[in-house]
Amino acid sequence: MEMIGIVLGSGLGVLAEEVDITREISFAEAGLAVSTVPGHAGKFIFGKLGGTDVILMKGRVHLYESHGAEAVTAGVRWMAEQGVDSLVLTNAAGTLNRDFAPGEWMMLSDHLNLTGTSPLSGANFIDMSEPYDALWRTAFRTAASNQSMKLNEGIYASLRGPQYETPAEIRMLRTIGADAVGMSTVLEAIQARALGLRVVGFSCLTNWAAGMQKNLSHEEVLETGTSAAHVMAGLLKEVISVSTRS
Ligand code: HPA
Repeated sequence: MEMIGIVLGSGLGVLAEEVDITREISFAEAGLAVSTVPGHAGKFIFGKLGGTDVILMKGRVHLYESHGAEAVTAGVRWMAEQGVDSLVLTNAAGTLNRDFAPGEWMMLSDHLNLTGTSPLSGANFIDMSEPYDALWRTAFRTAASNQSMKLNEGIYASLRGPQYETPAEIRMLRTIGADAVGMSTVLEAIQARALGLRVVGFSCLTNWAAGMQKNLSHEEVLETGTSAAHVMAGLLKEVISVSTRS
């Protein structure tokens, strides 16, 4: 049977409230590196969402914590070993697109890996022409429309961080086609595609990017994430139950 992994971004831990939990395994117990960022307590939560088996990964580690690309993607490999065949990646991101407001969600149509690194090495020339599964995206688009939810779609750019961007960097990112900016997700998407997983990604737009609002704090990012997480839980539940029925 299908099993879905769901990686929770900053402030999105409340998604776990929607899951009928069967067991929890800490990153330490799973032999993984532990995150030090507030709002990122590291554990895997096994359970059911909309009748489907899920593993939530709460508290990913980031490049800006001085972890390498391999540590950042260890959770994806671990979930694949547990039998996960589909992966939902979520993150908190700044919005560069004036039509996409903070508090809204953006489904990733594609990404820009600006981290300067990769979880893959050697002659691992995997195809990345469709990083985020087109059929699965259609299902999410339909579910969002059923729920009268505004679901934006666009391109997510990932930088290493941890500092937020400068206004000049944001202008550059907009010029090269980004709609949202953050510090995660792309390496996990690359790793997941290399393992043959079906992937979809969502950015919780927590703030206007630098230069578009006065200043930016991690607290604001966590607060907006928490209130928007329930909307995403509803969407995931609908799509996941539908995909189980079909
Ligand atoms: N920039 C980078 N990462 C982020 C942002 C941002 O504006 N908001 C949340 N994560």
